[in-house]
Amino acid sequence: MKNITVIGSGTMGNGIAHTFAQHGFTVILVDINQDALTRAIQTITSNLDRQLKKGTIDEQLKSDTLNNITTSTDLKTTVAKADLVIEAATENREIKLNLFKQLSDFCKDGAILASNTSSISITQIASVTKTPGNVIGMHFMNPVPVMKLVEVIRGYATTDAVTATIMELSKKLDKAPVEVNDYPGFVANRILMPMINEAIYTLYEGVAGVEEIDTVMKLGMAHPMGPLQLADFIGLDVCLAILKVLYDGFGNQKYAPCPLLVNMVTAGHTGVKSGSGFYKYTPGSKDLLVAEKFL
Ligand SMILES: NC(=O)c1ccc[n+]([C@@H]2O[C@H](COP(=O)([O-])OP(=O)(O)OC[C@H]3O[C@@H](n4cnc5c(N)ncnc54)[C@H](O)[C@@H]3O)[C@@H](O)[C@H]2O)c1
Repeated sequence: MKNITVIGSGTMGNGIAHTFAQHGFTVILVDINQDALTRAIQTITSNLDRQLKKGTIDEQLKSDTLNNITTSTDLKTTVAKADLVIEAATENREIKLNLFKQLSDFCKDGAILASNTSSISITQIASVTKTPGNVIGMHFMNPVPVMKLVEVIRGYATTDAVTATIMELSKKLDKAPVEVNDYPGFVANRILMPMINEAIYTLYEGVAGVEEIDTVMKLGMAHPMGPLQLADFIGLDVCLAILKVLYDGFGNQKYAPCPLLVNMVTAGHTGVKSGSGFYKYTPGSKDLLVAEKFL
């Protein structure tokens, strides 16, 4: 396995491309938006600079990593040679189903098709392809170059061989893979999102302010980051999309997204990526500096 195509160059896609390239894989990063690709290369470069400063990589590895990545807006030609495609496009069912239909037509025989989706059914994604046995969830955590976990999600049809290949590959990336089955939210977000949603309800109902809620969870529960700041990191739009999948999938009111979250997303306050969420992330601001400590 050598040629990797990563689809979507946002928060997750650039981190996934960075991680594979740093481990010697040839990566093509694809997005429909050229500006997103330009921003992704800038982000990867500044994250490599941060690693260089910390002494976790040297100049040679930085330049090898950048040389291993090319970018494109043309899906059809770029996936033709891929041994593995990792889709990290927007958390939207229609977008993903449409992409996997195309991948099924454009990829070579035997290619593994993985999705980094946080919550959408791998079984459903696989069902629109000609090779459902080759479709799997490879759920990286944010920020990808730093976080160890890969949640490996077996769809109903995913073969043992494909699962074993992805588990091994994750270890080669110096990650810790955990195998789980395909139910709404899998394990990570089924547990995390109700906590984040409850933190937003706690704010919405005036029980405490943003900093107070995050401080209680940081100092009281030894969480490295409070739930509201974590939501800003993940992207409030992504959190809302995941909660809707949990709500639809389980039909239980406890997953209903807080109206404040819905309002903030509607107003475009989606967290770090928009510069504003529960905190403000303008260049040089205190909150941005705090956020950067985790990258
Ligand atoms: N943000 C997180 O912390 C996090 C963590 C784990 C998993 N995820 C999952 O990763 C995926 C990506 O999330 P993100 O936060 O990086 O989103 P994002 O909004 O930062 O980036 C999504 C990118 O996908 C691109 N895109 C949309 N449609 C496309 C298409 N048809 N072809 C190619 N590119 C397309 C967009 O232009 C954008 O650049 C989602 O499925 C999300 O649930 C996110």
